[in-house]
Amino acid sequence: MKREAGLQQEIGLAAQALRLARRVVVFTGAGISAESGIPTFRDALTGLWSRFDAAELATPEAFERDPALVWGWYEWRRRRALAAKPNPGHVAVAALAEHCAEFCLMTQNVDDLHERAGSREVIHLHGSLHQPRCSACGRAFDYESSSEPMGGGELSEGRLDPPACGDCGEPVRPGVVWFGEPLPSAALERAFAAAGDCDVLISVGTSGVVYPAAQVPIHARQSGAVVIEVNPQPIGVAATHFLAGPAGVILPKLVRLASADSAL
Ligand code: OAD
Repeated sequence: MKREAGLQQEIGLAAQALRLARRVVVFTGAGISAESGIPTFRDALTGLWSRFDAAELATPEAFERDPALVWGWYEWRRRRALAAKPNPGHVAVAALAEHCAEFCLMTQNVDDLHERAGSREVIHLHGSLHQPRCSACGRAFDYESSSEPMGGGELSEGRLDPPACGDCGEPVRPGVVWFGEPLPSAALERAFAAAGDCDVLISVGTSGVVYPAAQVPIHARQSGAVVIEVNPQPIGVAATHFLAGPAGVILPKLVRLASADSAL
């Protein structure tokens, strides 16, 4: 009871900070898509990295060693993302943008649920499952988005040969950032510029352990912004307001409160 009252009060304070803000940044991680049925990476039992080995699946070396294993795994994830629907957390983020003088959304997620909830100009720090490209020449792979597995041969035990690039014939790779690879520099620059120049940053559903993305909320805080963290578990980043709970519950409340008699 006391805890619930504390949370309501904290949501009220966070909403007040949002009402006073001119420039708002939202920074999201896998947790915002959890309620859409997309597994996170590090949650015990359900997280992808508790069931799969990142070194076998999410590195350039893994793709070189066994392209069918890696492509098949990402095809499984792409089709799963395609079958998922945006949840009230994604919808609240899109609604918040409409109330802000300046708004910037950046995500570490490789699904497209923010866009499908109506968000525009989303900065994708870790790429996208929906933008495969040639592993050699980098040409974007032109494909019809469907839930059919994309590639050669049968999808068996998660393995699938990647399609060949229409230009150079080399294998197409997932359009995501793998461990050991740099983040897309334009996205990273825009993210840090926005975080360093905002009044409020809302960090949602991220464990804050993968750098450089994890530095974004820290940079905002160090630059003087109010940082609001939404997560069922505190992650140890010194947030100004920690709102304990699932994004699909907390964000709609926060946005509703912040936009009532809106100065946003
Ligand atoms: P993680 O799996 O590391 O963290 C997910 C966070 O979401 C945890 O802190 C959970 O407590 C929280 N969470 C779970 N359910 C939630 C809910 N319903 N609402 C809000 N929060 C919830 O995912 P990320 O921090 O996004 O990188 O992981 C960062 C990067 O590590 C990913 O982009 C990916 C991964 O390896 C690459 O693939 C390059």
